[in-house]
Amino acid sequence: MQDQASKLRRTATATAKRLRTIAITSGKGGVGKTSVAVNLGLLMAGDGHRVALLDGDMGLANVDVLLGLTPKFTLRHVVEGQKDLSEIMLQGPNGLYVIPGSRGVEAMAQLSSAEQAQLLNRLGQLEGMFDILLIDTAAGISPNVLSLILAADEAIVVTVPEPTSITDAYAVIKILSRHRADHRTGILMNMVEGVSQAEEVFKELQRVIRHFLNVEVGFVGHVLRDECVGRAVCEQKPFSICFPYARASRSLQELARSLAEPSQYAPQSEAFWGRMVHWSSVL
Ligand SMILES: Nc1ncnc2c1ncn2[C@@H]1O[C@H](COP(=O)(O)OP(=O)(O)OP(=O)(O)O)[C@@H](O)[C@H]1O
Ligand SMILES: [Mg+2]
Repeated sequence: MQDQASKLRRTATATAKRLRTIAITSGKGGVGKTSVAVNLGLLMAGDGHRVALLDGDMGLANVDVLLGLTPKFTLRHVVEGQKDLSEIMLQGPNGLYVIPGSRGVEAMAQLSSAEQAQLLNRLGQLEGMFDILLIDTAAGISPNVLSLILAADEAIVVTVPEPTSITDAYAVIKILSRHRADHRTGILMNMVEGVSQAEEVFKELQRVIRHFLNVEVGFVGHVLRDECVGRAVCEQKPFSICFPYARASRSLQELARSLAEPSQYAPQSEAFWGRMVHWSSVL
């Protein structure tokens, strides 16, 4: 672990670049956030980006399950000052790093400002070590989830083409737009039969959002419904690795490449962790 820590620090000093943070969220549960987050992270890492994945699902953290990893420590240990960030990170396939979240964000909200400053110092190590931080969140909008999403540079709201999921995606976007009208939010259509279905459902959702909320949302892309996704979960292996040529893997690969385009990135001025501490103490 010491080796891993020093390797990460060396990489950090070699190339200091702004970390891009992307929160993956949804209104309704079970729409594929974790599957998308894990496999998107793997595909982006496979394309040569330095990617970390924060498991921000405080109740039911399961990024590690999908990757077959067993975390001993979590973000809570960092928040409580017992561990360094580099000591809790796990390395998955393709050089993807995983940060087990547990109840770290909850604990963050309870810190004094001196403790917060110390914590930010530790978490600041991530800036420069990675190009992209993906955050897998729990469904719905609890204050913890909201603080993660609002702190991120952008949010991807995952929905499937079913009325309940679409209505819940709308509700999340409504809450986000109330807190930050300038928030960059995109829609990812998962479990669709084809691109035309994805675009059709997106356009209708976009129309309603423009009309009632007066905000803009982007179309992030689509992932096809594919039985390989479920089969891979049973084997505790990510589908993009188990079945790289399956429909779901190919559609997600396309999405990963378009998302990584530099034109897609509009960084915020303050670093992610500072924004997270801010939002977790005000919400
Ligand atoms: N493109 C897909 N095609 C087929 N099945 C899929 C696809 N994406 C996800 N699934 C399946 O949907 C189920 C839910 O996926 P997942 O756990 O990733 O959702 P989630 O949004 O993270 O759920 P939760 O809200 O509980 O965190 C899983 O059984 C997964 O295998
Ligand atoms: Mg999940």
